[in-house]
Amino acid sequence: MTAVATATPPAGTSAAPAGLSIRGLVKIHPGPVCALKGVDLEIPGGMFGLLGPNGAGKSTLMSIVAGLVEPTAGTVLLDGVDIVERPAYVRERLGFLPQDFGFYPELSGRAMLEFLLRLKGISGARGRREMADALLERVNLADAAKRKVGGYSGGMRQRLGLAQAIAGDPRILIVDEPTAGLDPEERQRFYRLLAELSVGRVVLLSTHIVDDVATLCPRLAVIKSGTVVADTTPAAARESVEGLVHEGFVADGDLVGFAREHRVLSAVLVEGRTNRVRVFVPPGAAVPAGFTRSPGTLEDAYLVLMRVPDHEVPPALARSIPAATEAAR
Ligand SMILES: Nc1ncnc2c1ncn2[C@@H]1O[C@H](COP(=O)(O)OP(=O)(O)OP(=O)(O)O)[C@@H](O)[C@H]1O
Ligand SMILES: [Mg+2]
Repeated sequence: MTAVATATPPAGTSAAPAGLSIRGLVKIHPGPVCALKGVDLEIPGGMFGLLGPNGAGKSTLMSIVAGLVEPTAGTVLLDGVDIVERPAYVRERLGFLPQDFGFYPELSGRAMLEFLLRLKGISGARGRREMADALLERVNLADAAKRKVGGYSGGMRQRLGLAQAIAGDPRILIVDEPTAGLDPEERQRFYRLLAELSVGRVVLLSTHIVDDVATLCPRLAVIKSGTVVADTTPAAARESVEGLVHEGFVADGDLVGFAREHRVLSAVLVEGRTNRVRVFVPPGAAVPAGFTRSPGTLEDAYLVLMRVPDHEVPPALARSIPAATEAAR
């Protein structure tokens, strides 16, 4: 069956760039809700993080790339092939772990996986069982194969979801908010697995957890209200806010007033009384009294994009990579 065919790209057969190329993507959902407002992204290969808050358009973008939803306008090329015109091309080369992955709690892990493999078009009971066992091994669930999925932890379920996604060695792996609700240990485990799986394929990871991206992704885009507001690397993003982030303490009762005067990125309550506050201070603006400079983090850069008015966002942060690419042409 096509779903299990080795999904390596037709290397050297096309002059088109390898990887994923998204151009002018627009999606208007019924409502109407404009979920994507003209997205351009070039994703050559490896792990790519799509970072954005709730409702930003991450799942919409992923469903389009997966060939499950038709865009209102724009093109998506996978290894040079237009997948809006030929959704079957991507479906045959795709592993997808959707945001809301349904399981049957009464089935064992292995039975669940065999069922999912059947849905993916893998025929032959024996072949399916062998494949299921190999995949369970791959995601470190062999020992839990006979246990009911209803008793799995969140991390185990996500690994089971990943097992069906990687069946058939897909060229492109899409994982939509896979670490939401996982505890730190499970998250680390999932990261490790995903990093191993990213070799030789395009992996698109959506998340609203900055740590996911900082740990895993050499490249990332930040999406806000259907628009890509940054396309960068974790290091470049950190650098772009370097020297502009300051930290200090603000009493709980003063925080609202303080936030009116300053660009607060984050405020963390300490011992229930005071707040450790990080602020963005644009060049030329006054540093709040008692605050000291703090090394910029990816979280700071993300929060600058979310909370600071557009005209104050450091130019090096806003859509940094495309601008650089443009200059290099
Ligand atoms: N099928 C749909 N019909 C109507 N509106 C939709 C549909 N799917 C998504 N939307 C809307 O489009 C916008 C983007 O939604 P989307 O699910 O893509 O965001 P997201 O970044 O994945 O959010 P989350 O982090 O909550 O998963 C939201 O305003 C959402 O309400
Ligand atoms: Mg989503």
